[in-house]
Amino acid sequence: MERTLVIVKPDGVQRGLTGEVISRLERRGLKVVALKMMNVSRELAEQHYAVHKGKPFYDGLIDYITSSPVVVMIVEGKNAIKAVRNTVGATNPVDAAPGTIRGDFAMDIGRNIVHASDGPETAAFETSLWFSEDEICAYTRNT
Ligand code: CMP
Repeated sequence: MERTLVIVKPDGVQRGLTGEVISRLERRGLKVVALKMMNVSRELAEQHYAVHKGKPFYDGLIDYITSSPVVVMIVEGKNAIKAVRNTVGATNPVDAAPGTIRGDFAMDIGRNIVHASDGPETAAFETSLWFSEDEICAYTRNT
């Protein structure tokens, strides 16, 4: 069983796509085990996106993710990291297949609706960065 972090970014929240994102993940068979809406501090944004520091888009990325609330969640399931990434689609929406979230709703790499952890180490780092253990809920998901 894997856990991964999913963020509905400011563009997704502002466009009213939060429910669509959660619904697609749940319908796929994934289990939301933690969920909150929050404003993102610069400190948290810089920790989350540290791997991109120095890249040309970094400052804009930090400005953007801190500009308006996000909805952040931990999603659990067998092979959850890969399943979520496939449901979300390619980072650049113009490369994302139709039927994926980005392929159906986005055109701009800087406004690609969702962030999802890209591997096991990132998922472990990001889930513990955004959530404390006591925010993660245990329940049975009936499929
Ligand atoms: P995300 O999955 O949140 O991880 C890093 C983000 O940086 C990515 O989604 C994009 O929104 C953004 N990003 C990556 N590459 C570029 C780029 N070339 N120009 C602008 N934004 C980018």
